[in-house]
Amino acid sequence: MLGFLKSNILSKFVVAITGLILVGFIIGHTLGNLLIFAGPEALNTYAVGLKDLGPGLWVVRIVLIVAFILHIITTINLVRQNKKIATGYKVSNYKASTFSARFMGYAGLTVLFFVLYHLAHFTLGFVDASTFGMETTLENGRVVHDVYSMVVIGFRNVIVSLFYILAVSFLGLHLKHGIHSMFQTLGIHGKKFTPMIQKVSAIVAIIIVISLISIPISIMLGIVGGQV
Ligand code: HEM
Repeated sequence: MLGFLKSNILSKFVVAITGLILVGFIIGHTLGNLLIFAGPEALNTYAVGLKDLGPGLWVVRIVLIVAFILHIITTINLVRQNKKIATGYKVSNYKASTFSARFMGYAGLTVLFFVLYHLAHFTLGFVDASTFGMETTLENGRVVHDVYSMVVIGFRNVIVSLFYILAVSFLGLHLKHGIHSMFQTLGIHGKKFTPMIQKVSAIVAIIIVISLISIPISIMLGIVGGQV
């Protein structure tokens, strides 16, 4: 039992820390993506700035990939362990807890599928090779990948945009529950803190969702990308 508890606490800690890394990435990525509203020069300068990090970018990518894989594997293990324990002890709120865990699972699975599609779309260029090869010249004369046009043309496809909006909304639900659980695991909870943390988790999730979905919506409405 002690061994189980130790491994359970360790697993929760791994989920919380990897979740924290992923939330940090999402906040940074959202802020970077919002540069699309400042125009092609701003977004393309930012995108080439990331590429210029060279080996530094790979360090970040490797940390993200490891965090993402550990987050998924450890969560699956935790859910399995908790199911076993709950069935063994006939815990009365088993149904309620598995519903929330199951929903986290569905939301997480959608995000996983979305990330794979998103990487194929914007990072690897498998979805639309023609936009992936587009180039543009910055004000300083440097020829760079035209990330702005790639995103605008990508989101003019209504099905792609709707898929992004759905996936980002699921990401929001996953984040709302996830950020709250993360604080609990890290020991930041209690009568005073828990309601505040619940509010903060919801606000952070809503801001991220609105910021991200505003991009495909603005492109579909023609508010962004008119010059492409
Ligand atoms: C409307 C929402 C989003 C837009 C417009 C967007 C845009 C982009 C673009 C343009 C790139 C390629 C950057 C480049 O090659 O210079 C990219 C990469 C990436 N995005 Fe997103 N993204 C969005 C949402 C998300 C979400 C919700 C996630 C995670 C759940 C995510 C995860 C990633 C990852 C992991 C990469 C690869 C980063 C790398 O190459 O190192 N993105 N995104």
